Amino acid sequence: MKTTNHTFLRALLKQPVEYTPIWMMRQAGRYLPEYNETRARAGDFLSLCKTPALATEVTLQPLERFPLDAAILFSDILTIPDAMGLGLFFAQGEGPMFERPLRDEASIQALKIPDPGDELQYVMDAVSEIRKALNGRVPLIGFSGSPFTLACYMIEGRGGTDFREIKTMLYNSPELLHQILEKNAQAVTAYLNAQIDSGAQAVMIFDTWGGALSHSAYREFSLHYMRQIIDGLKRESEGMPVPSIVFTKGGGLWLKAIADIGCDAVGLDWTIDIGEARKQVGEKVALQGNLDPSVLFSSPQVIVKEVEKILASYGSGSGHVFNLGHGISQFTPPEHAGALVEAVHTLSRKFHSA
Ligand code: CP3
Repeated sequence: MKTTNHTFLRALLKQPVEYTPIWMMRQAGRYLPEYNETRARAGDFLSLCKTPALATEVTLQPLERFPLDAAILFSDILTIPDAMGLGLFFAQGEGPMFERPLRDEASIQALKIPDPGDELQYVMDAVSEIRKALNGRVPLIGFSGSPFTLACYMIEGRGGTDFREIKTMLYNSPELLHQILEKNAQAVTAYLNAQIDSGAQAVMIFDTWGGALSHSAYREFSLHYMRQIIDGLKRESEGMPVPSIVFTKGGGLWLKAIADIGCDAVGLDWTIDIGEARKQVGEKVALQGNLDPSVLFSSPQVIVKEVEKILASYGSGSGHVFNLGHGISQFTPPEHAGALVEAVHTLSRKFHSA
């Protein structure tokens, strides 16, 4: 199946493009009424993830509304710990939680690396079904959480904590945390490679909580394992390169180190100036980002101004994939997301001569 709009993949590989491509983290989500409608039909969020036909439906919803340059698999990073048997559930208004968080040595040693062709087959089925439904319109992004970010949820047992459990383990029994991270890294590598085999055309690692670590702990407990994953990833599929994107939220001070692990692109949150980031690492990697998602609460005129600032700061030439600095808020008016996509497509042409 030929993909007709290659702009996103070309930008990741720093090949010339006519305009700056854009997609939005969490582009399929609660700010879209049609998403809420499908989720209600599924019953709950996890059933939505586990029913390939419905996951396909919501993946395509934002593309029906906006001329986005990439689709992202509709799923969640917590599918891996769920497949490891930790008992994932979503409590109303609380976000994700685990029935059996990992705390003691025996359960860490018993932790099994899930087989993507077994417990996670539903994700691979969603990837192939989405590729078919896309019919070559835009490329499909596969994704996973980073070993450290997954470990945060596995050990804390829930989101929104002060990381007390995982950091106590990190400082008191680092070898235990390393055992978990090693298994997570193997699980993520197999999972992403299976997504590539099923049709994912680029992959992204979400290291949402790596920025909570100290300078040295980040390198030892997060970056090291992401490098291991990148080293183990398939680099080509269907005769095309499969670029990788690494996003550490709060990682702005560590961009050089991130760009060094062999990924094709680095995701940026909104706290760093993208032109400054380009000066630091732009020779080596492409950059993805980095509009503050809260800009989308403001008027379309303000959105246009903020888009222009980021495009001008990145400057001329390829290697930029426009995105938000983190996921789109559920309170975003959908028309504002539309205004963003249009602004990026129109205003970016003057920065490309291809
Ligand atoms: O970008 C996309 O459109 C693809 C889908 C996607 C989801 N989660 C859907 C989702 C992706 C890429 C993720 C990744 C994810 N999941 C991350 C890393 C990125 C990030 O946002 O930092 C993390 C930390 C998770 C774990 C997770 N899943 C949390 C913390 C929550 C609750 C968030 C909230 O706002 O309540 C989820 C649930 C979730 N994952 C939703 C969606 C659309 C909302 C669930 C719902 O419909 O109620």
